Amino acid sequence: MRVGVDLVEVAAFQARFDGRDDLLAHTFSATELAYCRAQPHPWRHLAARFAAREAALKALGTGLAAAGSWRDIEVTRDPAGAPGLVFHGGMAGALARAGFERSTVSLSHTATHAIAVVVLFRA
Ligand SMILES: CC(C)(COP(=O)(O)OP(=O)(O)OC[C@H]1O[C@@H](n2cnc3c(N)ncnc32)[C@H](O)[C@@H]1OP(=O)(O)O)[C@@H](O)C(=O)NCCC(=O)NCCS
Repeated sequence: MRVGVDLVEVAAFQARFDGRDDLLAHTFSATELAYCRAQPHPWRHLAARFAAREAALKALGTGLAAAGSWRDIEVTRDPAGAPGLVFHGGMAGALARAGFERSTVSLSHTATHAIAVVVLFRA
């Protein structure tokens, strides 16, 4: 298995994405955007989902160029609110080529920072 972690400063993330609906739609799924926008502090949740993408790339061990686009990594939620990962397109292909079959993710955020840890499993 391989682990990746990423820490995102919420204000810096917001400064980069605020008002950029094109960039947000290019990075997150419609489901992720709808969930985050419905929360009292959307940017914390979005920053955590961006951290999950960076953490997944670290666990995979390649940069984004080799793994498709940001939209190829999606954070899901189960009925209890626990996050999961779904991979699409280039990222799904890169993971399969590297032999990874399962993943797990954990998110946490405060007013200032969001963090994600991703573990990829080969079997
Ligand atoms: C889930 C919980 C640990 C979150 O902790 P917190 O200190 O309030 O908040 P954090 O910033 O550290 O974590 C928030 C993240 O925890 C994750 N989370 C939420 N519920 C979770 C769960 N059941 N299991 C694992 N992770 C969970 C989410 O990814 C959430 O971020 P998101 O809303 O952006 O997706 C806490 O609210 C708790 O213990 N809740 C009850 C647990 C539970 O099982 N509830 C089930 C209800 S059916």
